Amino acid sequence: MRKKIIAANWKMNMTCGEAASYLEIFLRELGTDGEKVEVVIVPPFTAIQKVSELLSTAQSVKVGAQNMYFEKSGAFTGEVSAAMLRELFVRYVVLGHSERRTIFGETDEVVNRKTHAAHEAVLKPIVCIGETLAERDGGKVEEVLDRQIRGSLAGLSAKELTETVLAYEPVWAIGTGRTATPQQAQDAHAFIRKTLANVWDVPTADKVRIQYGGSVKPENAALLMGQADIDGALVGGASLDPRAFAQIVKQSASE
Ligand code: PGA
Repeated sequence: MRKKIIAANWKMNMTCGEAASYLEIFLRELGTDGEKVEVVIVPPFTAIQKVSELLSTAQSVKVGAQNMYFEKSGAFTGEVSAAMLRELFVRYVVLGHSERRTIFGETDEVVNRKTHAAHEAVLKPIVCIGETLAERDGGKVEEVLDRQIRGSLAGLSAKELTETVLAYEPVWAIGTGRTATPQQAQDAHAFIRKTLANVWDVPTADKVRIQYGGSVKPENAALLMGQADIDGALVGGASLDPRAFAQIVKQSASE
């Protein structure tokens, strides 16, 4: 059984003060439902320490980061390392989000180096993949996913792969209000798992958790989370509202 993992990707939102008010409401709304799934709050770097402090007594809610650099230290202005995140009790790191890929030019090769660096530092990567609308319309979904999987995850051991979370995020569904249908998402997830089985093996692929991301909200979470190969959600916009995010977690916990 794969334990579902629901992550709140706050993107470039939330000051430390806003994060504190958010968590007060979120933890109250969540109650004990958070224990049935893994919940990860992914704040901007500047709020990580505050969020870690506030979650130190909330066993079931973990902290993630939105990005990191693959080098250990040095002259890399503006970057942070895996060890710096670990020091702040960060457990997960989102890598290769489509905004990183399209706005900041990250390639599969860069994402791959970051994925290896995260594992070396015992940080669990959440590696994002997904096609654009033009690629979907051009019938290239499988080709794109295959390339991103092989490129971003190259050289991972079977053990490392099982400690990696994948996030299937069709770019056309991110922040657009246009969600993939449960069937479209399930088809992509099944293809991703089949590809993992081809590159590694079936038992390993069966252990990997694959999140869906792209306009997940309380109204569509249950149907999406009920699909066989969907093991959680990476939530952007709706995760900025503590009540909506708690609802999404609760829906997922009952699937
Ligand atoms: P969205 O973002 O939920 O606002 O579509 C998802 C993401 O980018 O991770």
